[in-house]
Formats: sequence, structure tokens, C-alpha cells
Amino acid sequence: MKGVNNFLVTFSLLALASTFASASDPSPLQDFCVAVNGTKNAVFVNGKLCKDPKLATADDFFFSGLEKAGNTSNAVGSKVTPVNVDQIPGLNTLDISLARIDYAPNGGLNPPHTHPRGTEILVVAKGTLYVGFVTSNPDNRFITKVLKTGDVFVFPVGLIHFQFNVGKTNAIALAGLSSQNPGVITIANAVFGSKPPINPDVLSKAFKLDKEVVKYLQTQF
Ligand SMILES: *[C@@H]1O[C@H](CO)[C@@H](O)[C@H](O)[C@H]1NC(C)=O
Ligand SMILES: *[C@@H]1O[C@H](CO)[C@@H](O)[C@H](O)[C@H]1NC(C)=O
Repeated sequence: MKGVNNFLVTFSLLALASTFASASDPSPLQDFCVAVNGTKNAVFVNGKLCKDPKLATADDFFFSGLEKAGNTSNAVGSKVTPVNVDQIPGLNTLDISLARIDYAPNGGLNPPHTHPRGTEILVVAKGTLYVGFVTSNPDNRFITKVLKTGDVFVFPVGLIHFQFNVGKTNAIALAGLSSQNPGVITIANAVFGSKPPINPDVLSKAFKLDKEVVKYLQTQF
């Protein structure tokens, strides 16, 4: 009898815990979602609107073309091909997505960036990548590794990370991300290339840079 009671108490507590868990707000699936009253001008929801499930087809869950290399002829020498809810509508609300990343030989760089909504798990399909991420304040510890073909590395949600091709051939990686829309903030572009530009006095002080250097950097993004 005592065993049964213990079981019931445990079961009730678990049921309560899951009630509390499901009572919390869902994580945002985009940068923000400003509230409006009523349906006038209310177009967006958290994530995307759902199709009537009866009308769903295989193509809603399908993407083709990830065998194609991204064009790395650009300033950083890398190209990300995303496969998220914008490419596969069936990913809506499912907390998962994918990307292919191509790196040019000798220094192709996926520059320091963060995914505000997703942890990333990356597998090197080809080549040698120097990768790393930096932990949050105050430690800002740099966690780094050189990866070869077949190696897997994790970049925890929100942390600044990069991959750099240190091999003589092109490199290819595939990344899984724990969001239908993980988002990307490329640090240099966001800081020095915002539209409109951030007042150079702010960046000069924050980065301990001469204001002329800040202005120069702002012309580069
Ligand atoms: C929504 O309605 C509430 C209550 O009437 C009001 O206080 C608020 O200002 C409204 N918000 C917007 C964005 O219209
Ligand atoms: C790759 O991008 C460069 C720069 O935009 C462009 O000149 C070139 O034609 C592209 N190559 C291919 C194969 O699309």
C-alpha cells in the first residue's frame, strides 16, 4: 500500500511538473513579435501560420539541392546554404533545421557569428577546419579545436563562434540547428554595418579604437 501511495505521489508531482512546464511561454521563433490588439494588421504569429494538415503534401517536407556547392567567391571565402522553415515549410514549430557550409581553400572563413535561437552541431564532410566559440561574460573562455573530415563539434545556443578553413583544399560542413529559424548575427556586419550606422563615438569607446578607424571599418560593411 505504501509503495502504491509513493507511486501515486510521484506520479502526481510529475503530472504537476509537466503542467507547469507546458504553462510557460513558448520560445520566440523570430527576433521579436510586437503585440497588437485585434486582427487588424496582425499578420505574423510566433513562427508561421499553419496550413490545414489535411492539405499537407510530401513537398511541404522536402528540399532538393544540398549536393550543390555554395559560391565562395566573396570577401570571406565561405557560403552558407540554409535549409530552414523558409525552405521547408513543414519545419514550422518543429525546433530543427539544417545548413550546408562551403569554405574556399586556404582561409575560407565563416566569420564570428551567433545563432540567437539555436544550438548548432556541425559535421565536417570534407577538409580541415579550425573552429571555436567564446563563453559568455565574465570568463569569455575560448573553446577551440581543429576538425578533420568526419569530426563533429557543438556550438551552444547564442555563443559567438566561427569556422576557418586551414586546409589547402575546399572544405564542406553540414550543420544541424535546434530551431526552425535559428537566426544569424554576424558580429562584424551587425556592429560596423548596421543601417543606419551606430554613432562612431560608441564603437570607438567600446572597441578601444580611434574614431577614424571606426569610420573606416563602417565603410567596409
Ligand atoms: C490594447 O488594448 C489595451 C486595453 O484596451 C490598451 O491598454 C493597449 O494600449 C492596446 N494596445 C495597442 C497596441 O493598441
Ligand atoms: C560566384 O560569385 C562571383 C561573385 O559574385 C561571380 O562573379 C561568379 O560568377 C559566381 N560563380 C558562379 C559559378 O555562380
